Amino acid sequence: KKTALIMAGGRGERFWPRSRKSLPKQFLSLTNDGKTMIQLTVERILPLVAMEDIYIATNEAYRPLVRQQLPQLPEENILCEPVGRNTAPCIGLGAVHIHHKYEDAIMMVLPSDHLIKNNEMFVQTLTDACQIAEQGQNLVTLGITPNYPETGYGYIKADKNTPNGPAYLVERFVEKPDLDLARQYVQSGEYYWNSGMFIWKLSSILTNLKNHMPATFEGLSAIQKAIGTPDQEHVLKEVFPSLPSESIDYGVMEKASGINILPGDFGWDDVGSWLAIERIKGTDADENTFTGNVVAIDTSHCIIEGQDKLIAAVGLKDIIVVDTPDATLICHKEKTGEIKKLLDLLRSQN
Ligand code: GDD
Ligand code: MG
Repeated sequence: KKTALIMAGGRGERFWPRSRKSLPKQFLSLTNDGKTMIQLTVERILPLVAMEDIYIATNEAYRPLVRQQLPQLPEENILCEPVGRNTAPCIGLGAVHIHHKYEDAIMMVLPSDHLIKNNEMFVQTLTDACQIAEQGQNLVTLGITPNYPETGYGYIKADKNTPNGPAYLVERFVEKPDLDLARQYVQSGEYYWNSGMFIWKLSSILTNLKNHMPATFEGLSAIQKAIGTPDQEHVLKEVFPSLPSESIDYGVMEKASGINILPGDFGWDDVGSWLAIERIKGTDADENTFTGNVVAIDTSHCIIEGQDKLIAAVGLKDIIVVDTPDATLICHKEKTGEIKKLLDLLRSQN
């Protein structure tokens, strides 16, 4: 049995001001087909997983958005977290719910805010990953061949001496290295980007949560016992906020042994910042990427995202402008990493 958990509780802060707390990135359409990122994520896996076996983990606040954007999804498959506790509790919550329905099953864990160009190759890679996950207690992570030293990703070193079919054993995980290290990793040919996509059996991930995150596992067990009882909501609201905030990368993947990395080459982009818009939409003759009503002279290497209002630019280079009805971002291309800080500042002023 193949099931999927789509993680959709992130805030998408690096995409401010289009991505808002009330409407984060995964619920926006960033491509030209009008489909939102979470809709694309579901559509992509339908060749492999039945709609009734797809679960969405998100914040309680986003339940209406999920229902609106995925009306075909059974309502009970929307798992709402009372508060965000990062990906380990999110994945654990998914695992205990799916376990309530199936004794054991394959669980694919997928982020909701990535773009993939070659869906067929992606589905093939997932199929291979499922086969590896079927064996023993294998944990499988999909790795992407890096083509530039991105510091916003985790890196995974594969032990190329231990091939397991198309996969390798993982030697180590390095979460978000600095630029120097990232450069070395890309050059070495031994490192892959951590795509944040994981494939395992329920029994495998639950055993690993128990071994490496015992307190979290205990809380999840209490939540599991209440599923399907009148206490379900109450126990979730009591217990979930008490779980430590931890990513699955730190909580399990860096500690577990016998992890397999399956390299995939399916045109993956995590759309981590406004710079990704160039890769997605392409650039014009002046290396600009304009959306909406934009007129420019002597302007190059700029990203301008407008809507209906006319935006007129003169003599700009390497500038990002993102206009929305109530907020406009103007940011140098080299400073997109600071947008999170900007939001901290805004919050401190309100
Ligand atoms: N339901 C839920 N609850 N979802 C969450 C939560 C949460 O508390 N926190 C994050 N998510 C979702 C996000 O919406 C996103 O789809 C996914 O989990 C990953 O979280 P991010 O916050 O985007 O992680 P990251 O981008 O910093 O790093 C991870 O992904 C990179 C690739 O995109 C790591 O796994 C990196 O190693 C990896 O390279
Ligand atoms: Mg991310």
